[in-house]
Amino acid sequence: MKCYELQGPSGIDGLTLVERPVPVPGAGEVLVRLNAATLNYRDLLIVKGGYGSRQKFPLVPVSDGAGLVEAVGPGVRAFAPGDRVIGSFFEGWLSGEPSEAKMRAALGGAVDGVLAEYRVFPAEALVRTPEHLSDSEAAALPCAGLTAWSAVVKLGGVKPGQTVLTQGTGGVSLFALQFAKMSGARVIATSSSDAKIERLKSLGADLTLNYKLTADWGKKVRELSGRGVDLVVEVGGVGTLNESIRATRIGGTIAFIGVLAGPPPAELRIPLMVMQQQRLQGVTVGSVEDLQAMVDAITVNRMKPVVDRTFSFDQAKEAFSYMASGAHFGKVAIAIG
Ligand SMILES: NC(=O)c1ccc[n+]([C@@H]2O[C@H](COP(=O)([O-])OP(=O)(O)OC[C@H]3O[C@@H](n4cnc5c(N)ncnc54)[C@H](OP(=O)(O)O)[C@@H]3O)[C@@H](O)[C@H]2O)c1
Repeated sequence: MKCYELQGPSGIDGLTLVERPVPVPGAGEVLVRLNAATLNYRDLLIVKGGYGSRQKFPLVPVSDGAGLVEAVGPGVRAFAPGDRVIGSFFEGWLSGEPSEAKMRAALGGAVDGVLAEYRVFPAEALVRTPEHLSDSEAAALPCAGLTAWSAVVKLGGVKPGQTVLTQGTGGVSLFALQFAKMSGARVIATSSSDAKIERLKSLGADLTLNYKLTADWGKKVRELSGRGVDLVVEVGGVGTLNESIRATRIGGTIAFIGVLAGPPPAELRIPLMVMQQQRLQGVTVGSVEDLQAMVDAITVNRMKPVVDRTFSFDQAKEAFSYMASGAHFGKVAIAIG
């Protein structure tokens, strides 16, 4: 089979197309013929060496994929050849609270990922693909989709009538917008691009703001929302945290997810966060049980992930470069089959 390998943190040009034998599923395992993968910012970080010396190499990169069951190993009854499936980001976090052991095997990081024609998965780490989704759309769910689901629904507990702030128009943020609307919340969404802001409105954003043109966007969001938002989906990280603290209501939550905005400012507004009794909630994707809950909600609501562009398998490097450019709106997909 063909797959991409990274021999080291050598950047996008280091992605090499190689031949490997098609793996054979053992007891309790399933061989999946992958049809599509989508990229996450983390995949780009890994390719560029952002995970430092902890990263294993050689590595088949990319965590999120969808495809067809090709064969099942002994003892597998839940799946049969021809079933459409998606793989979980963490193979070992099946349900319940996270732990070091459950989070050890993250695809495209500690273990090989999905930028390959075939991959063997433990049967219990697979979820059936919603019928109304293409494989490219389904491949957006394991990391970006589930992270947004955990931030907004599972850990964020967003209720109808509440207000959620999303930052930018990447994969996690657009899913967060969609889940917040699904939960009956009002969404204030930001972007650095006025053209993307028009697309945010068509996705259901109630209020929008250009964070490049409005440096004190947190203050502005607080004014727009009345008393401050109930939940911020913080993909910027410490670089945007000060404005997020300003945007959040007393007693509100900041779901801390990303690192997009770079290093922290000289002084973080932590005392303000304390005085406003805000909650900083770290989010790390989710379990297979959470993935199933999200898939059920997506199926009932016939929700469609936003896939910006799909590249061919041969164009995988172009797909990474496109993501690195920041021009995308939602997910960047790679068709494998
Ligand atoms: N903790 C977890 O489990 C987890 C899981 C998934 C992702 N993440 C993290 O979450 C972040 C988002 O991941 P992703 O895959 O969704 O990224 P992505 O698709 O690459 O998002 C890129 C977009 O984010 C926006 N952005 C960039 N810098 C920004 C800033 N300073 N303020 C506000 N928005 C900014 C831009 O939108 P505009 O062009 O509209 O301005 C940009 O196009 C990353 O840091 C990733 O590492 C964490």
